[in-house]
Amino acid sequence: MNEHIQWHNTSLTKIDRQTAKGHRSFIVWLTGLSGSGKSTLANLVEQKLFNEGVHTYLLDGDNLRHGINHNLGFSEEDRKENIRRISEIGKLFVDAGVVIFAAAISPYEEERAAARSRFEEGEFIEVYVQCTVEECEKRDPKGLYQKARAGEIKNFTGISQTYEPPGSPEVIINTADQSIKESVEELTRFLLTKLNEERS
Ligand code: ADX
Repeated sequence: MNEHIQWHNTSLTKIDRQTAKGHRSFIVWLTGLSGSGKSTLANLVEQKLFNEGVHTYLLDGDNLRHGINHNLGFSEEDRKENIRRISEIGKLFVDAGVVIFAAAISPYEEERAAARSRFEEGEFIEVYVQCTVEECEKRDPKGLYQKARAGEIKNFTGISQTYEPPGSPEVIINTADQSIKESVEELTRFLLTKLNEERS
């Protein structure tokens, strides 16, 4: 970064914005294989919190690739940049006092750790949406696993590119062993508790 670029402090702070909304703000980072249920879960849990009067927003990996990330592919380098951009955008939302959901495969532990480091303690909630490749492949909601097996899609996570499961996520939601309803309730309960906790 250019040494001549200064940081401007604003009169209004994150705490002011959180106080106005009446709740804390943080990022809920959902990581997991394609088809594990990240988008479905984030969408339904966001709705639950919204209905409780929480100011929320959802950043979905697929959707962002239609706009701000349209120039990124699926090489290791591009996926790293994808995680960096999503976490930087998420940080702006947290600063704005919003509970922000990010749903992206985000396959690398090191990049997720870097994403976490952009936030204050307790502001980054990593949710591992756990599901075996076999189960995701069975679901194959977009028909992508079939294409990956046929060699029509290169670098497909879980088939021809790695996915590193989180070592110490705040929450693990196993979508292979429980219903969507159970998963939604589990994560909603966790987040509502978190929202009511005092700031440390
Ligand atoms: S990430 O790995 O860079 O975090 P992201 O969540 O943004 O991925 O996008 C993943 C989505 O892109 C998948 O849900 C799937 O719909 C689509 N996709 C297309 N090609 C691939 C690929 N090679 N690997 C994984 N997902 C892919």
